[in-house]
Amino acid sequence: MNTVIVKISPDDINNKLIQQAGEIIRQGGLVAFPTETVYGLGANALSEEAAAKIYLAKGRPSDNPLIAHIADMDMLKGLVREIPSVAQKLMDAFWPGPMTLIFDKSEMVPKGTTGGLDTVAIRFPNHPIARELIQAAGVSIAAPSANLSGKPSPTLGEHVIDDMDGRIDMIIDGGMVGMGLESTIVDVTVTPPMILRPGFITYEMIKDVIGDVKIDKAIFTKPEAGLKPKAPGMKYRHYAPSAEFKMYRGEAEKVAEKIILLANEKADEGMKTGVITADQHRYLYENRLHSNITVVSLGDLEKPETIANHLFKTLRDFDKEKTQFIFGETFSEDNVGQAIMNRLTKAAGYNIIDV
Ligand code: TXA
Ligand code: MG
Repeated sequence: MNTVIVKISPDDINNKLIQQAGEIIRQGGLVAFPTETVYGLGANALSEEAAAKIYLAKGRPSDNPLIAHIADMDMLKGLVREIPSVAQKLMDAFWPGPMTLIFDKSEMVPKGTTGGLDTVAIRFPNHPIARELIQAAGVSIAAPSANLSGKPSPTLGEHVIDDMDGRIDMIIDGGMVGMGLESTIVDVTVTPPMILRPGFITYEMIKDVIGDVKIDKAIFTKPEAGLKPKAPGMKYRHYAPSAEFKMYRGEAEKVAEKIILLANEKADEGMKTGVITADQHRYLYENRLHSNITVVSLGDLEKPETIANHLFKTLRDFDKEKTQFIFGETFSEDNVGQAIMNRLTKAAGYNIIDV
């Protein structure tokens, strides 16, 4: 398939191109587009055939449901059976934005979109291109992250091109996304509501608005532990780089000591080796690692949003360099750190070693 690749600036949206993209969605085709979290791979959420194309393009298991993206509250009403009052509070506080809510679905939403479930995930994104695209399409857009299944979510247009060129109708390259981690998912069909995937909107922020909220414990346990995550997608080994990736937890100096030892050892064996650190700890590695080891800082520990922003790109860059071993520090699990460590822990296949 020939994929049309267009560049659109979020500050100066080319209306003609957006209309063209909206038309592709209406006709049952696939368009990848930027959102404020990660890039999405969009299709008409009300068409089972269109949704089926998403699963095919991504190589995604068919039991893993899609998020329906909306651009106004009228669209929401057609898709859900009811709007619980806690949901209204969350929407008032966080929509449009990086939060997905799970509702009981209406008849209109086909099970081909919801992975066979009677519930539907809905998100009102706050990215100008995403919003204008949904409006141009005139229908809700089902969109998972625009990566091949199992790969890190795309945070740059070039990531989408790497994974989807030749598989879909159009890619809208809108530059780097703002956040870099997928939306927080909250199930509002249960009392109290439950966080099924941590994200930029944190447990504390949600608690402040609705008072009582739980978090799905299965998110933090290895798949082998037998707890089944309530968001089907959370059970898959995600974000995995091709390299063997291990993380080391403890006091910064000791962690660096350990990582330096292990990374140099692997480099000596002729392995392509990488190290993940933070701005504040970079100096600990200076002049102590073999020169052929790639050291990457994910960002500033005082500004966890910088870490979130570089996380998936870093994993993809290591793949591009054909890195075989990655040794990484761990990060704080406070606030947005919970989402950061959730993604890193999965990427590392739950290999966290206390130093
Ligand atoms: O930020 C985001 O949410 C991005 C952008 C593109 O909006 N989308 C995204 O979609 O991350 P995806 O498909 O990569 O992840 C959706 C997650 C999966 O874990 C899926 O299992 C879960 O949402 N999900 C979808 N519908 C659900 C439902 N009805 N009940 C429980 N979990 C659901
Ligand atoms: Mg995904």
